[in-house]
Amino acid sequence: MITRVMKPDAAAIEEAASHIREGRLVGIPTETVYGLGADALNPDAVRAIFEAKGRPGDNPLIVHIARMEEIADLISGEIPPAARRLAQAFWPGPLTMIFPRGERVPLRTTGGLETVAVRMPAHPVARTLIERSGRPIAAPSGNRSGRPSPTTAAHMLQDMDGRIPLILDGGPCEVGVESTVLDMTGPVPRILRPGGVTREQIAAVCGACEVDSAVMRPLREDERPRSPGMKYRHYAPAGALTIYRGARMRVAEAICAAYDAALSEGKRPLILALEGNRPLYGGRNCESLGADARAMAQTVFSALRDADEKRADVIFSESVEAEGIGLAVMNRLGRAAAFHIEEV
Ligand code: TXA
Ligand code: MG
Repeated sequence: MITRVMKPDAAAIEEAASHIREGRLVGIPTETVYGLGADALNPDAVRAIFEAKGRPGDNPLIVHIARMEEIADLISGEIPPAARRLAQAFWPGPLTMIFPRGERVPLRTTGGLETVAVRMPAHPVARTLIERSGRPIAAPSGNRSGRPSPTTAAHMLQDMDGRIPLILDGGPCEVGVESTVLDMTGPVPRILRPGGVTREQIAAVCGACEVDSAVMRPLREDERPRSPGMKYRHYAPAGALTIYRGARMRVAEAICAAYDAALSEGKRPLILALEGNRPLYGGRNCESLGADARAMAQTVFSALRDADEKRADVIFSESVEAEGIGLAVMNRLGRAAAFHIEEV
């Protein structure tokens, strides 16, 4: 199959909409990352998503809608009042909420779960495509399973070339990390995956917001996670990644020492550092993560992809405080490093 990359003008969006209606897959820009979309209510189309990604069948998909009314078809029971307030505050936007599954949503979409994840994306191309296709669209991130999520059409093409007919090129993604996955089925909203909407923002609307303990650590071997996505190694570059945490100068010293040791062993090391800290690394091979946590969210996945392009076999990364958008950044970096973190 030839994969075309098209500017999302009206004709391209109509073509994408007909692919969706006919059960095929489309690469879709969203404000978080690029998604691999298909008709969420068509089990065969959904099966094709799992095949194209190489994704385990028990890892559920997020269902994307364009208007609030569409949610009634997807969930069972009423929308809880807290979810209504959150939707008012953050939809359209990078927030996914989990509800009891409505009967029309195939179990294949929810990975066999009796809950369903729903999000209303903010990106105009994603919204127009949902409207024009007349279907709720199931869309995981558009990477092959285990790879960093794509934040440009070119990254999505790297992973999906020959597997899908069309990618709509909406430019680079504004947020850069995926949506916050929030479980709304318990008494207090609980973050299963930190993302574009922060814990602090959610707590300001709902009064309280828990963060699942598995967000910042590896799962124990016998542990059953609240979100199947937590089980799988994610975002991982080919090289071995270690994260350094501590005071700025000590981190730089420790990274320089580890880098020089790796070099003397004949390895190809790479440093991921905040823009302002780059001078601390002298002439060493160093990739910028941007100026602050928000910029880091935008660059973290492309930095991990670049590390592969540069064939780095050991990677040393700085960190940011795990608060605000920094929690999402540290969750992605932590998982990419299999939580190999050095406190210095
Ligand atoms: O920003 C995003 O959320 C992007 C864009 C394309 O919308 N999508 C995305 O989808 O990141 P995906 O499939 O890569 O990640 C969805 C995560 C997975 O970790 C999955 O396990 C979790 O959400 N999830 C989905 N449905 C769930 C459910 N019913 N219960 C618990 N976790 C769920
Ligand atoms: Mg993903």
